[in-house]
Amino acid sequence: MPAATTSPLCPAAYHQADWLERERSAIFEKCWLFAGLSAQLARPGDFVTMDACGWPVLVYCGENGLRAFRNVCSHRFSELCSVPCGHGSIRCRYHGWTYDESGHATGIPGQRELFQLDEQQRNSLALKRYQVDRCGSFVFIRLSENGPSLHEYLGEYALVLESLGRTFSRPFVTESQDWAANWKQGVENTIEPYHTEFVHRDTLIAVVESHGETVLGDGHSRISHRLFPAAQNWWANMLASTQLQPCRDFEHYHHFFIYPNLCLGLTNGSLLSIQTFEPTSADACRLSFRLLLPNSDDATGKLTSARMALSGYLEEFNQCVLAEDRGPVEACQRGVRSASSNAILGATEQRILAFHQRLTREIAAESPTIAG
Ligand code: FES
Ligand SMILES: [Fe+2]
Repeated sequence: MPAATTSPLCPAAYHQADWLERERSAIFEKCWLFAGLSAQLARPGDFVTMDACGWPVLVYCGENGLRAFRNVCSHRFSELCSVPCGHGSIRCRYHGWTYDESGHATGIPGQRELFQLDEQQRNSLALKRYQVDRCGSFVFIRLSENGPSLHEYLGEYALVLESLGRTFSRPFVTESQDWAANWKQGVENTIEPYHTEFVHRDTLIAVVESHGETVLGDGHSRISHRLFPAAQNWWANMLASTQLQPCRDFEHYHHFFIYPNLCLGLTNGSLLSIQTFEPTSADACRLSFRLLLPNSDDATGKLTSARMALSGYLEEFNQCVLAEDRGPVEACQRGVRSASSNAILGATEQRILAFHQRLTREIAAESPTIAG
């Protein structure tokens, strides 16, 4: 067991606006960020939107594959698509400029009479492009043009995502909540099991054993816990009644963290939870979450009711767990403003340490005086 360690991250990192600015340029503009699932981007015209630490992003499925753009019109900068996902052409609702799938402004109402833009001017008004790639059914974007490929970035976790992508594709729950806490507080809470005994007395404590096997990477990390026999039996019964086929690569419970803000919880190879914590300000974040059961053929009658009952139960259970987590996470945010030393991390909080080490290294590489 490693001894307690002091985090390299200072309290100011949780509430000061200039820290968030540094995180934006050192982390969110450089890392691959989860944007959505390929099932949401399957047909030409499908799109998803996201906020990458203040940069609005549109991921669009064209005839020639996925494209990512800044989700901002080149005319007078209206946001282009305002819903989390949808289907249609890229058309600004303010004055009707339309863009083709490579981001060129192909339709400008009144171009001849009002603008008379030549080809070069029109080309310069193309939407700002970003990098986009997928691994399994997980679609990622990167704001920076340069950096490792998505597979290099994910390392061993690419195999995990590919495996999950063969079993899970369509969420039965997609929601978001605004939490009054810095985005790192949300991440940290999901990557340590230390709080389970106190916070999840009515929920998770009866499902997973408290001891877990941790594997640390460079920021990314994972932990595996055994499910209690009663939970295993419960899942066996649920799978029998719903005829869903779990992902056989992973038994029991696994949690994967893909730096900087993607958290995946996998229970019994049968329930996948996908969470991201996106900064909305220095002391607030948006938790976006999805729940998925294994892919299945269309069902009818009893099977449909069994699957709906299972989804309903899992959704409610997940809401309870999130409600249990939210209070302590927001309490940490209120407290950290008056903290005068860095946090101390115990043996079961080493994933937080790996997260902080990469984060401070990347911040220091951009602004050495701040994170040293
Ligand atoms: S701002 Fe988009 S068309 Fe005018
Ligand atoms: Fe929790």
